[in-house]
Amino acid sequence: MSNLLELRGLEADISGSRILRGVTLDVGPSEVVALMGRNGVGKTTTLKTITGLLEVRAGSIAFAGRRIDQLSTDARARLGIGYVPQGRDIFPHLTVEENLHVGLVVRGCRGSAATAALERVYALFPVLKEMLGRKGGVLSGGQQQQLAIGRALLGDPQLLILDEPTEGIQPSIIEQIGDTLRVLKGEGRLSILLVEQYVDFCRAVADRYYALDRGAVVSSGPIADLTDEVVRTHLQV
Ligand SMILES: Nc1ncnc2c1ncn2[C@@H]1O[C@H](COP(=O)(O)OP(=O)(O)OP(=O)(O)O)[C@@H](O)[C@H]1O
Ligand SMILES: [Mg+2]
Repeated sequence: MSNLLELRGLEADISGSRILRGVTLDVGPSEVVALMGRNGVGKTTTLKTITGLLEVRAGSIAFAGRRIDQLSTDARARLGIGYVPQGRDIFPHLTVEENLHVGLVVRGCRGSAATAALERVYALFPVLKEMLGRKGGVLSGGQQQQLAIGRALLGDPQLLILDEPTEGIQPSIIEQIGDTLRVLKGEGRLSILLVEQYVDFCRAVADRYYALDRGAVVSSGPIADLTDEVVRTHLQV
């Protein structure tokens, strides 16, 4: 089975400093992969190179069998890369419904296909259906995270990229988000690349992990093989 996403020896700079020092990582079909690491090691930077928000200096990015590292951010999104940035990035002055419609527009989805796509999101996140008329900005952090994930799903991605979805969110909602990720995995329609520092959450939802330290992968494998030693040395704050 070939990989959906393949990063090979990625190097990237931010304002003249080398941030990524050769990141190699794969995400297979229907797989949930956790990219873990302490603050400032380059997790978000890695995601920005995948989505095209940051240019790579060296290395390659392949998605669904083709090189994408020279494509625009929009072109990568159209190929099926959905991105929920750190801090969620919903539109605070638009309603929940309007925020979701942005997701549909990105994909050019209308009519009965749009209705079906929205129903899928409401089934995953019932709270969104109850809050359609509320402004995004008045939702709780957890609800905003659910809205951001829902909006990304409306683009019907093959790869859903989530940057620290549990950050600053209350435990009951973290659990709901974990359940949702497992449902999505069970559907078998997409793969998930999850950047996350919350180790127990990764153990609960991921198939495999990569531990990043100072811009390089220092450990990787099935999540069941993530040892306390690796957690202590590379992940624990
Ligand atoms: N816009 C920027 N200008 C300068 N340095 C930056 C910028 N963005 C990130 N960096 C630096 O690049 C490094 C990697 O940042 P990155 O955001 O990828 O870390 P991260 O692993 O996502 O951390 P966190 O868990 O805090 O989100 C850090 O040392 C950071 O200070
Ligand atoms: Mg980050």
